[in-house]
Amino acid sequence: MTTREDILMALQEVRHPGKQDKTIVELGMVHAIDTGADGVRVTLAFPKRRDPLAEYLIGSTRAALIRHLPSDVKSTVDTIVVDEVTPKPKKNINELDMDQIAGVKRIIGIASGKGGVGKSTVAVNLACALARSGYKVGLADADVYGPSIPTMTGTEGMTPLAEEADGKELILPIEKYGVKWMSIGYFAQKGQALIWRGPMACNALKQMILQVKWGELDYLLIDMPPGTGDIHISLIQDIPVDGAIIVTTPQTVALADVEKGINMFRNENVNRQIYGLVENMAWFTPAEHPDEKYFIFGKDGGARLAEQFGVELLGRIPLVQSIRESGDDGEPAALGSGPDGLAFLNLAARLAEKAA
Ligand SMILES: Nc1ncnc2c1ncn2[C@@H]1O[C@H](COP(=O)(O)OP(=O)(O)OP(=O)(O)O)[C@@H](O)[C@H]1O
Ligand SMILES: [Mg+2]
Repeated sequence: MTTREDILMALQEVRHPGKQDKTIVELGMVHAIDTGADGVRVTLAFPKRRDPLAEYLIGSTRAALIRHLPSDVKSTVDTIVVDEVTPKPKKNINELDMDQIAGVKRIIGIASGKGGVGKSTVAVNLACALARSGYKVGLADADVYGPSIPTMTGTEGMTPLAEEADGKELILPIEKYGVKWMSIGYFAQKGQALIWRGPMACNALKQMILQVKWGELDYLLIDMPPGTGDIHISLIQDIPVDGAIIVTTPQTVALADVEKGINMFRNENVNRQIYGLVENMAWFTPAEHPDEKYFIFGKDGGARLAEQFGVELLGRIPLVQSIRESGDDGEPAALGSGPDGLAFLNLAARLAEKAA
């Protein structure tokens, strides 16, 4: 039999990164705990003022219950909105509010039809290259299941600060390499897998974009999660994304993958522009022979795909060990002056030209 104490023990693990990492129990956010024949129900109390980490806390609570309770005990997490001492303007937790992206000139999704082709690598390096070229840039990591931006930028373990403005709580992005970064990874405890239901993942994601104090930006890039599912469609519909960059590799023999990526943005319900394709891993250059190019997967795959879909080939990025290593080390290749860095600077220049 699961007791209230067992549940409170589990909830001690859920900390609020925006409130000095205090537990939700300490913060008085556990409104009710019900244990009955049909399982356990925990109700979390949120103030009327929107908490930018609400979805994160709901997800963490759910994860803590799953981890600590016997696997046959069903658990549910509910929320309730409570009054505050000083009444604040009424706002639903999930209501979309575009104030924080009002100063953003262009929102660009970095997508692909297929996973693992280098979307995050291209997104991080393009962000750094645009910043190096003098643009104001932000990047939101939309991969709520497997966020990779903190590692790729060497900002793992940092915790964004929160700030209150006009009765709303905002998250301040992490700044490094002249870019503003935001990722749900900053709110996850190390080694803890994030467990989300579909709609919750969507909401958490939108909060990571709409409740962040981006300020004035020339470009806000969104590193899209792998796939072309509901999260993607909902994101593109609800956030004023201007267009997309589709990342592909030359071994993407299946045109269908690229087509899926393009169609996410081009279908009649959303109809956003495609800035172009980026062919990643276009050729192989060994570290010890930086001047050599081996077109192991054929030479014109990217160009052919671009032509087939009537879009531009914005850039070609080589497959070089340093790109992977710099990703692992958190120092994007685009910051360097090698051929890999140059490839990203060229891509940034082409995008800027195209977007102008
Ligand atoms: N041009 C490149 N040269 C060398 N390694 C690369 C290159 N592009 C990507 N990689 C490596 O390939 C792996 C996958 O890249 P990345 O995580 O950027 O792909 P992704 O499309 O974002 O994946 P996912 O679909 O899982 O989000 C990483 O280890 C990355 O360092
Ligand atoms: Mg990725």
